[in-house]
Amino acid sequence: MSLFITFEGGEGCGKSTQSRMLSRRLKKLAVPSLLIHEPGITALGKKITQLLKWSKDIKISPLAELLLFNVSRVQLVTEVIKPNLEKGVIVLCDRYADSTIAYQGYGRGLDLDKVKATNALGMQGVIPNLSILLDVPAETGFARNKDKKPDRFEKENLSFHKRVREGYLKLAKAEPKHWLVIDATKTKEEIAAIIWQRVSKRLPG
Ligand code: TMP
Repeated sequence: MSLFITFEGGEGCGKSTQSRMLSRRLKKLAVPSLLIHEPGITALGKKITQLLKWSKDIKISPLAELLLFNVSRVQLVTEVIKPNLEKGVIVLCDRYADSTIAYQGYGRGLDLDKVKATNALGMQGVIPNLSILLDVPAETGFARNKDKKPDRFEKENLSFHKRVREGYLKLAKAEPKHWLVIDATKTKEEIAAIIWQRVSKRLPG
């Protein structure tokens, strides 16, 4: 049995904490699982992440951004996600194609059909079984990250991040069975319990 679970949300939503907590819990139960992060896991993805998050002197247009995230995704799906799912490993992915819809589609304002068509190339048919949205107001996420050095996306203004949040909420509303939406202002233990309730039902035995 394989299961592909993605964690999504705006800046400071706590998805990295929650994906790590779920990964630890699965490991304790000896359930084969792998925690990965988009975009920077493969060698190519790491180079692209560096460009996308930290480049100062290189201009990157929204369309170039859309393509670069998907170049990295092609490599991640081919090299890591597909082979692990085929072996029956549960793959937990901190961000995936819905991040591109939220950030490049709603945030940057690219045409949503164009974003979805490009994502389809990147995903190569590998669609998550469950996507978890940790929903937090953009202001709250910003405040949580105030001591962190901001990358190119975190430097965007509040209205960009509000559009990203709205984008996620629209995606979740359109496919309520696929998404688990959690109020990420709850404590991390409360959030982890909600996630476990949903995920544990899908585990063998
Ligand atoms: P993170 O390490 O905070 O998740 O950094 C990834 C950043 O890249 C985050 O600000 C969201 C952004 N991003 C996109 O804009 N589009 C995408 O498709 C992905 C995967 C991430």
